[in-house]
Amino acid sequence: MDKVLEKAQLKISEKDLKVSDMAETLVFSEIVKLANEINDKINSGERVFNLTIGDFNSHIFPIPDEFKDLIIKSYNHHDTNYPVAGGMPTLKSAISEFIKRKEGLDYKPSEITVASGARPLIFSTFNTLVNPGEKVLYPVPSWNNNHYTHISFAEHICVETRPENNFMPYASDIKPYIKDVALISLCSPLNPTGTVLTEENLREICDLILEENHIRISEGKKPVYLMFDQIYWVLTYGDIKHISPVSIYPEMKNFTIFIDGMSKYFAATGVRLGWSLAPASITDRFKTMIAHMGAWAPKAEQIAASHYLKDTENVDKYLEHFKDELSYRLNKFYEGLTKLKDKGFGIEVIPPQAAIYLTIKVDLIGKKKPDGCVISSSQDTTRYLINEAKMGVVPFYAFGSPETSQWFRLSVGTVKRDEIDECVGNLESALSRLQ
Ligand SMILES: Cc1ncc(COP(=O)(O)O)c(C=O)c1O
Repeated sequence: MDKVLEKAQLKISEKDLKVSDMAETLVFSEIVKLANEINDKINSGERVFNLTIGDFNSHIFPIPDEFKDLIIKSYNHHDTNYPVAGGMPTLKSAISEFIKRKEGLDYKPSEITVASGARPLIFSTFNTLVNPGEKVLYPVPSWNNNHYTHISFAEHICVETRPENNFMPYASDIKPYIKDVALISLCSPLNPTGTVLTEENLREICDLILEENHIRISEGKKPVYLMFDQIYWVLTYGDIKHISPVSIYPEMKNFTIFIDGMSKYFAATGVRLGWSLAPASITDRFKTMIAHMGAWAPKAEQIAASHYLKDTENVDKYLEHFKDELSYRLNKFYEGLTKLKDKGFGIEVIPPQAAIYLTIKVDLIGKKKPDGCVISSSQDTTRYLINEAKMGVVPFYAFGSPETSQWFRLSVGTVKRDEIDECVGNLESALSRLQ
């Protein structure tokens, strides 16, 4: 009885509520933290341009009207019970037709898994293909590979890429590790840079993977898999072409897991509908994983998407307009920032190729601010840009680059066409105030 009383009086503080080592060391998205900080400023009445998030202002970039109407129709039709695990057959057929028509890829419904956005499929890829302690190779900067590697108890092999190569990896960067890795994670077009892998570059990487897998398979070992995140693939501009491992070598289909979905190129980040393309045996395991997580896309959205993706005329019309709008913004920023570079403001910009991102270098290290303090890190630069240039951009260290990197991601998904001059003007006057 005394013991029970003693227990009842035990004071429990937060630090007593221990969690797993993995969760203890898992960090929240740096980008979301930064975006929240800027939103607080905006909510308190400051005019700050939030160019941090890989998302859209849905008032500027709404989802396609026809898709929205179909979703509403589905809810009105009471399509609200559990959908089939791994995706509804009608939707998987529509996806199969869509990627054949737009990208030329041949994937049967049995090779497609549907989930609530791309993320559960990335999670499934890591956890289906990588054992704890095995190695995952990914280039930096890149989006969230560090977190997914951590969650799957894998070892990180980070390959640092260079601005001269548009921050894309070469086969020679990967070659030293190829014998050791369980999974290579690539993304093209790349978040954060808005640049793409070239055909030559990707071909050489595929050569490495195929050569290694011929050895592994002949020895009965698990092959090295390639996760190819192409969630932005429709959004390429001008002469830039998206290229995929399977279009280069059909044999790569055995080892490639494509990550794709409606989030980015239909501005539907909150709709939560993504898919993977993978060999049928792996797709089967993804289905199980997604079912246990309960991470299927809502049924009404699945039914709506199964009709919308087949509406080729409206899909193409939407995409053409959407791409024009994004490309206008990226080019307008590029031109404005290039002028600042030419004026000697310590700026560099990589010409935009794809997605919703522009890669800029803002090197303010050693400059004295009006308050007399000297900027000594990319964190200081980030703060200066938010507070003085009224512009939020994400430093590349949030994407795994070294803290010394002075490169930033600028996202155009929340900005109006006619706000860009103001934004660049704010930056120019903030930079002019530095000594
Ligand atoms: C490269 C990349 N892959 C996947 C995702 C996640 O997509 P979803 O919102 O469909 O989960 C993002 C989102 O920012 C991304 O940038």
